[in-house]
Amino acid sequence: GGVTGRLITFEVGEGAVKSTQLLRRADALGARWVAVVSTREPGGAPGAEFLRGVILGGEHGFAPLTEMLLHFAARAEHVERTIGPALRAGSWVLCDRFYDSTEAYQVHGQGADAAAFSVLKGLVGVRPDLTLVLDVSERVAAAREKARGRAPDRYDRLGLGFHARVAEGFRRIAASEPARCVLVDADRDEVVVASEILQIVCERYDLPV
Ligand code: TMP
Repeated sequence: GGVTGRLITFEVGEGAVKSTQLLRRADALGARWVAVVSTREPGGAPGAEFLRGVILGGEHGFAPLTEMLLHFAARAEHVERTIGPALRAGSWVLCDRFYDSTEAYQVHGQGADAAAFSVLKGLVGVRPDLTLVLDVSERVAAAREKARGRAPDRYDRLGLGFHARVAEGFRRIAASEPARCVLVDADRDEVVVASEILQIVCERYDLPV
């Protein structure tokens, strides 16, 4: 048969509770579900992780179209090698960021062409079944970035105006696809956010909470 698994994606702006921590909690439910595969973008396959270094590590930026193409190149590798096979095997794939990040960061944030984005999105062979959009206010995002004190990647250095556009982009995506996207208030404590996410997933798929 065809694809039997489910693809659940997590989208975040900057300053969200790190979604991998949330994914780990979701993993705890893996015992009750079918097999769960946790993965991330950019990355999630050897070639895609190599491209992640190219995208995030470089000191110089790329033109918005170049940057969008690099993210879709990494995504093509990820879908071909990791997500597609997992879904065909019946696994539930929990993915930290997916193409909504490209729409928010490259289209809304960097000004890449929206029509080009739509074409590229159409070439991706899978669609998220459910997308949890973690929404963080500007005030909380700034406070968390400061508290974290880790080395900033290239996107971190783009400044507040950029991150406000990204956050607005995610809100618009969530509003335009209400059947797929759930907006989660991620200003709250990590434990509260994680348990709400588990509840949303369990309710959607009729699993015991
Ligand atoms: P993260 O691993 O901390 O989420 O970092 C990945 C960075 O890459 C983050 O700043 C968002 C950015 N990004 C894009 O700009 N476009 C994309 O399509 C994806 C997947 C990530």
